Amino acid sequence: MPQPSETAKGPAQGQKLETLTVTDNRTGKQYELPIENDTIKAIDLRQIKVHPEDFGMMTYDPAFMNTAACKSKITFIDGDKGILRYRGYPIEQLAEKCTYLEVAYLLIHGELPTKAQVEEWTNNITTHTFVHESMKKFMDGFHYDAHPMGMFVSSVAALSTFYPSAKKIDDPNERMLTVYRLIGKVPTLAAFAYRHSMGMPYIHPDNELSYAANFLNMMFRIAEPKYTPHPVLAHALDVLFILHADHEQNCSASAMRNVGSSRVDPYSAMAAAAAALYGPLHGGANEEVLRMLDEIGSKDKISGFIKDVKDGKRRLMGFGHRVYKNFDPRASIIKKLADQVFEVTGRNPKLDIALELERIALGDDYFIKRKLYPNVDFYSGLIYQALHFPVDMFPVLFAIGRTSGWLAQWQELLQDPEQKIARPRQVYLGNDKRDVEMLSQRK
Ligand code: CMC
Repeated sequence: MPQPSETAKGPAQGQKLETLTVTDNRTGKQYELPIENDTIKAIDLRQIKVHPEDFGMMTYDPAFMNTAACKSKITFIDGDKGILRYRGYPIEQLAEKCTYLEVAYLLIHGELPTKAQVEEWTNNITTHTFVHESMKKFMDGFHYDAHPMGMFVSSVAALSTFYPSAKKIDDPNERMLTVYRLIGKVPTLAAFAYRHSMGMPYIHPDNELSYAANFLNMMFRIAEPKYTPHPVLAHALDVLFILHADHEQNCSASAMRNVGSSRVDPYSAMAAAAAALYGPLHGGANEEVLRMLDEIGSKDKISGFIKDVKDGKRRLMGFGHRVYKNFDPRASIIKKLADQVFEVTGRNPKLDIALELERIALGDDYFIKRKLYPNVDFYSGLIYQALHFPVDMFPVLFAIGRTSGWLAQWQELLQDPEQKIARPRQVYLGNDKRDVEMLSQRK
């Protein structure tokens, strides 16, 4: 691999160099920077200086629009072609042929499990679905109308106080124990948050049920001796968990990696990731979509709403994506899934408004020019609502599925020798040095 060097020489004729030649027009100097995987290392720009005492050149990339912060083998997205793959497997095939727990295994271990492996994995996760009794007291401390995502974020953080040995992040056994615990416990915490807000008793996990069915049991069981959800509905929820499981370096995965890079315990890092997911531009968007559909209320109000969006007064929630500029493959799967769910639950009346919004937006120049298409959140909320989840539980549902992805990203970070504590640079544009005046003299 070529090393960065100052040079005035171009490539010899016919020779293809894996380098980028940069000319600094301030000095006339040329620099040859190595190219690897279609990237240059930002640190290689540091040698570019006008004066020897200069700090050296940096890149400026607010919101990381064009900066790779890691090398990853977990998730591949081609936003122009609408492709999403976990560990090489197309999302469409995973959604059709696997359960969420198989996909979680894939994300964590890199390969799909065999029958024996999935049995062991399921058993390990299932034996960690219970939470410490003190966690109930912790939940009880929240106000009755606390947002469930706030309760979820806090209770994930609180888990770190129950499992102090998770701080041993270099111990692979400890790490795997955390993986079992977190994937096992997030449905329990989520359901407890909901039950608390409803003033209903907490329901303990039923480990005979599947992952999704057990979650529905903890959410909705009332007095039945055994709760058995409709298999179509449990399956739909399982598929939604698969679709949300990972999405490479999104805001919350980056939070997981950034916070994890300080070598804090994984519960604290995941609480940060879940907090990032809570925002309305990320995992909170599914909640906002439903509120938006409620607010629109009927088809005749759609054109007025679209006008407001085009006038920049608001956003069409559930539309647009930083990466997908053609279609979001998850949205296509969810649309089909919605039909299966509505056959059981009856049609969600908001579907007609959503379909009409989509039809109008997809034919409108504003959205076409900006390549804005329905994303995963546009239809997922309609299914969640048909399953009787209240709107403010939607981001929590996203977080349950995403837990395996966050953990896979965290594990990869810890095992990557190139990673260090995350610490971006800034371009300082504030005041130069000035002297402090005594309070009595300040104007
Ligand atoms: N409605 C109206 N206009 C939009 C929208 C939207 N939903 N999204 C983007 N635009 C416009 C934006 O105003 C800008 O226009 P202009 O060039 O005239 O200033 C242009 O499209 C580019 O937008 P951007 O904000 O620079 O794009 P971004 O890549 O920074 O944002 C996004 C991506 C997802 C945050 C944004 O599309 C958005 O706010 N969508 C609504 C919220 C949403 O559905 N989020 C869920 C994302 S998918 C789930 C997940 O992975 O979290």
